[in-house]
Amino acid sequence: MRTVLLNPGPVNLSGRVRAALAQPDICHREPEFARLQHAVRRGLLAVYGLDDAVWGSVLLTGSGTAAVEAMISSCVPRGGRLLSIENGVYGERMSLIAEANGIELDRLTTDWLAAPDADALDAALGEKSYTHVSVVHHETTTGRLNRIALLAEVCKRHGVSLLLDAVSSFGAEEIDFGDWPIAACAGTANKCLHGAPGVAFVIVRRSGLAESAKRSVYLDLATYLNHQDAGSTPFTQSIQTLYALEAALDEFFDAGGWRARNALFAERMGAIHAALSEIGVESLLPESERSCVLEAFNLQGRLAYSKLHDALKARGFVIYAGRGKLAAEAFRISAMGDITTADLERLGEELRKILAKAGAR
Ligand SMILES: Cc1ncc(COP(=O)(O)O)c(C=O)c1O
Repeated sequence: MRTVLLNPGPVNLSGRVRAALAQPDICHREPEFARLQHAVRRGLLAVYGLDDAVWGSVLLTGSGTAAVEAMISSCVPRGGRLLSIENGVYGERMSLIAEANGIELDRLTTDWLAAPDADALDAALGEKSYTHVSVVHHETTTGRLNRIALLAEVCKRHGVSLLLDAVSSFGAEEIDFGDWPIAACAGTANKCLHGAPGVAFVIVRRSGLAESAKRSVYLDLATYLNHQDAGSTPFTQSIQTLYALEAALDEFFDAGGWRARNALFAERMGAIHAALSEIGVESLLPESERSCVLEAFNLQGRLAYSKLHDALKARGFVIYAGRGKLAAEAFRISAMGDITTADLERLGEELRKILAKAGAR
């Protein structure tokens, strides 16, 4: 039986992406690698129609956190100050990364079930001088799509740049590189883009990297950008994973780009939501606050999460636990990857059976 991954990445790979993993072995110091790297970097910029003269696409071998750490440690200059917006695990992680890198930091913390407050951001930016604000686009902890446009407007007024964690939104939600004052945006291959885990990336405004802070040898974006622009790489890259990302990007553009993916995920999440709502399982957030990528649900004590997880796993579905303080009551289901309508119909049937059995006890 096929296992359907409904966790927020890594995702089920399509046949085309999986086949790409088996392409011939190449050396990362040869022109074949330069071609592959160039194609992937160009493809990532094309997701949001970005100009290569303004934006650099930096590929890193690592998970999404590697990209977030490279972004924060490279973009906040020495002597700079970061205001870190937190409303979930990944916002909190950005603060931890800044601290670990010795960056001057303040936190703007909101309840995990609330949106960041633009007025509070305005007040905080008026109080002290900051170079950057960091924020998560889609806070995967709760499935909230943070309304970056509102925060971006405040940042622009204060002349402060944005560092955006778009690890679980890049390729499926709107990112307005033209209007928001983005200094850099971190993403990964194995979520909305449907690649394999092992490659992450940062889309960086070239002008913002002129004075790279050089806090790290391995995660310094300026080093990568200089090498990758010249067709080389400072370190060994995960070549097979890049082949897979190249195929995933081809598939992404063939299917119609980010808007088409947004519509696809929204349709899938709609079906999942309807199936759960029918059996009385409610969402943690109202529809207007949710991303298209993932939804968090509340079990309201009807069944222990571990029981639901195990019963679904035995039937070929992997769902995802809530995090931290939400672990007891919430679970999450994501719509990314190579899953089918039939998979989701079967999920609905299995959920009905499992919860009916639990309710009968
Ligand atoms: C918004 C966000 N940021 C960062 C990460 C960390 O990514 P990784 O686990 O690939 O390091 C995740 C992972 O789910 C995420 O959803």
